[in-house]
Amino acid sequence: MKDELDKIKKEFLQEIEKVKNSKELENIKVAYLGRKGFIAEVFKNLKSLSGEVKKDVGRDANILKNEIEQRINEKVAEVAKDINEFAEKKLGIGHILDVSAPSKRISLGSRHPITLVKEEAERIFSSMGFEVAEGPEAETEYNNFDALNIPKNHPARDMWDTFWLDNKKGEKLLLRTHTSPVQIRYMKTHKPPFRIIAPGRTFRYEATDARHDIQFYQLEGLMIGKDISLANLKGVIEVFLSRFFHTKTEVRFLPSYFPFVEPGVEVEAACFLCAKEKTEKRCPVCGGSGWFEIMGAGMVHRAVLEEVGISPAKWQGFAFGVGLDRLALLKYKIDDIRLLYGTDVRFLKQFK
Ligand code: PHE
Repeated sequence: MKDELDKIKKEFLQEIEKVKNSKELENIKVAYLGRKGFIAEVFKNLKSLSGEVKKDVGRDANILKNEIEQRINEKVAEVAKDINEFAEKKLGIGHILDVSAPSKRISLGSRHPITLVKEEAERIFSSMGFEVAEGPEAETEYNNFDALNIPKNHPARDMWDTFWLDNKKGEKLLLRTHTSPVQIRYMKTHKPPFRIIAPGRTFRYEATDARHDIQFYQLEGLMIGKDISLANLKGVIEVFLSRFFHTKTEVRFLPSYFPFVEPGVEVEAACFLCAKEKTEKRCPVCGGSGWFEIMGAGMVHRAVLEEVGISPAKWQGFAFGVGLDRLALLKYKIDDIRLLYGTDVRFLKQFK
């Protein structure tokens, strides 16, 4: 048996020297290491041996098997090198692709939480007949302020700390401080009745903290028709929030002020967290009051309707503006808005 192993080894070493390509290499591999190969044969014959001899031969056969494997692996590398040299010198191409090489793991991206929230909001509002409208992030002073009943030097402009753009000619531009200018753009180019939402990025020139960033996302809503009232606004918002938070969510209106609505309201939603789990601890969502602030809204001001050429005697409607970041923080219970604009993949990967 020992002679047998020596013979196998000798022949293998001779044959492997002659190998020129991977096909020949594969044949040798099968002949020696395959299920019916020489080594397998040796192991099969072991059965007829006994005691010390069996142990010795078994050990030697294993050693030989390892040697053969190692030599074959070395030869794989040699053959690949030869092929690449051949490709480079004779064919003038860089190298030949080794299609049998194991591939790299490709990591898939994930959707951003704000994208998820935006898409979910679009789905819900679409099902209520709202169309999606858009506007630019660099806006005119007119659309962002004047047409929204916020003339120059009006103190209400202080509500929006503004990034002004340094454009040399033409109208003064700024980074829109809210999505409300999309109302103006849409109403100037469409005839009522209509209902739209306008999701988009907005900017404010302010200090950042866990709740404020210089950029954020809003979703504007606008519905103009005949006999539209605050009751319709309440219904639409309740349906939206209930579906968005997957739990019946009541809302209440508090008086508020925005120059482009009259009356203006602050919308508060009944806390979806406290309502479900009566916790002893301070609620992380509403702070224990049972309500949280969710958006500004109101009936579109007649001055705005007049400005865009819609008769307030015939048409009226509501508008609202909700922060998509805020919705994302609430939905996913994230406690720092800056995470949304960071690049921490460990955070971002959690969202699908
Ligand atoms: N544009 C307002 C803001 O960003 C929100 C709002 C929109 C209020 C529509 C009323 C109506 O503060």
